[in-house]
Amino acid sequence: MGAPGLELETWETENLASTMPLFERIREDVRSVMERDPAARSKLEILTCYPGLWAVWIHRVSHAMWGAKLYLPARMLSQVARLLTGVDIHPGALLGRRLFIDHAAGVVIGETAIVGSDVTLYQGVTLGGTGKGHGKRHPTVCDGVFVGNNANILGNITVGANSRVGAGSVVLNDVPPNSTVVGVPAHIVYRNGERVLITDPHDIKDPLSDALIALAARVEELEQRLGGPEPCVEPFAAEEADRSAYREELERLAHFVSMGEGI
Ligand SMILES: CC(C)(COP(=O)(O)OP(=O)(O)OC[C@H]1O[C@@H](n2cnc3c(N)ncnc32)[C@H](O)[C@@H]1OP(=O)(O)O)[C@@H](O)C(=O)NCCC(=O)NCCS
Repeated sequence: MGAPGLELETWETENLASTMPLFERIREDVRSVMERDPAARSKLEILTCYPGLWAVWIHRVSHAMWGAKLYLPARMLSQVARLLTGVDIHPGALLGRRLFIDHAAGVVIGETAIVGSDVTLYQGVTLGGTGKGHGKRHPTVCDGVFVGNNANILGNITVGANSRVGAGSVVLNDVPPNSTVVGVPAHIVYRNGERVLITDPHDIKDPLSDALIALAARVEELEQRLGGPEPCVEPFAAEEADRSAYREELERLAHFVSMGEGI
């Protein structure tokens, strides 16, 4: 499968082969929500008011049915879960331990998606296909990943362990571990705690980057024809000087204002 940080065999050892009793798993899930959601006040509240957890618990049953080749009943159960919770998880999806789907509504997880342990998904997240592939066509989301609301992670790509996906992002390529990605299409803004600044428009892979690159090349060519670039004059220097003079004037008159004299 080739997903860095999460091989299928590891996933199976951690999850499918685990002999942890159902109630122990539920307790583990509740504990992990208590740790991750500052809004959670009690275990009873988590049991009764977190439809994202109900969706995961129902998925465990529908996934077992899927494994037993009870395909239609498994799909029907997953649709009951969708009606109840607003979360649509295909019974074939492989979900790791302590998955927390916060606010639940509108989350979609496709058939061949693989989700590691300690993953957090907010409302509206899609782990979906691009509509083009066959076979493994949904993403692999490694351990400890955080996905902000309404982000879309599309295709057979891998989001590396402990990475963060910004709200509203559309992720179309692999994300390395320990990174933060944002935007449409998503690009890296942090990696291993270091800020990543984009200096080359190629790195954004936006449809407009080609136009920007062509424009920059054209400007450079025109500058060369005119005998090299003009020395750089600080932009808006005159406006900045006006603003500074205005600020100085305000500071000079400040005590009139504070004494209620007005200006
Ligand atoms: C992605 C995220 C985790 C990054 O947080 P962070 O590490 O504190 O990053 P910063 O705020 O320093 O942002 C870094 C850059 O990315 C930009 N950015 C951050 N989040 C973004 C987003 N969702 N979409 C587009 N750009 C984003 C910032 O504007 C900043 O750009 P700049 O330096 O050019 O101004 C956070 O912004 C986010 O989206 N969290 C999701 C929260 C969520 O879903 N809440 C739901 C509650 S119901």
